[in-house]
Amino acid sequence: MIPIVRQVQRIISPQFVVEGAGVRLRRSFPTNLLDYPDPFLLFDHFGSDDPDDYLAGFPMHPHRGIETVTYMLSGEVTHRDSIGNAGTIRAGDVQWMTAGRGILHEEMPGPVEGQMEGFQLWVNLPAKLKMTQPAYQEVPAKSITEFELAPGVRLRLIVGEVDGHSGPVVGIAAEPVYIDVSLADQAVFAHPFPRGHTVLIYLFRGCILFGDENKAAENTVPAPALFLLEDGDMVSVRSAGGPARCLVISGKPMNEPIFRYGPFVMNTRAEIEQTLLELRNGTFIQK
Ligand code: CO
Repeated sequence: MIPIVRQVQRIISPQFVVEGAGVRLRRSFPTNLLDYPDPFLLFDHFGSDDPDDYLAGFPMHPHRGIETVTYMLSGEVTHRDSIGNAGTIRAGDVQWMTAGRGILHEEMPGPVEGQMEGFQLWVNLPAKLKMTQPAYQEVPAKSITEFELAPGVRLRLIVGEVDGHSGPVVGIAAEPVYIDVSLADQAVFAHPFPRGHTVLIYLFRGCILFGDENKAAENTVPAPALFLLEDGDMVSVRSAGGPARCLVISGKPMNEPIFRYGPFVMNTRAEIEQTLLELRNGTFIQK
């Protein structure tokens, strides 16, 4: 059988939003164009040349029922939380946080040599794990699996398996793949993904060409853009007009109802009401 290459279903232009105490960032979803590519709940691209866009940061705030994945390209984010973790993540580092039944944390961005840029992805937890113990997997840049998949195709593999290589993050319910792909001009990233899994591509440098190469002008898309792919057997992405860099992210849909309220994502309204009650009466964090 000839593998079916996944076509582009939607191209989303990120929208500027203000979050936290006044951080301006580019959000691909949830927006009015794309709500919830199951199992992913949110994708933000943060960073600016102007520190006033981010220095206010994200003071203490709660999460429940999700995992948050922070990947830094430059600058740093200093964090501390209610379960006793504190530290700073810097260029190339990843923090994969399982909020589970509840965590309170602070995330404060800062520039390094004037630069600060990164991404935050929210991954849903299945109903049976929403109230699991909070946990962290903090992965320094040097522990991320780096290799050349094909000529001009350089990968930083954070989670998942590609061509016999494994990423350092393990044990995630959504069976995710998260890869930072750097492409030389006209290089092609091609890799199989399981049928039925959601695949997203977030282009943050350069341009990529999808589909018919004879229609390069209309099929070439510049950064920043999020591509939601149709189902199929494999992904094939070609850079166009110079080098390009993108995140390729996949996960297994949970096909469960969700009820979200700000930083909490549960399955029912009653579970959200319970969460708010616990916050009010001081039982949200259990030691
Ligand atoms: Co947070």
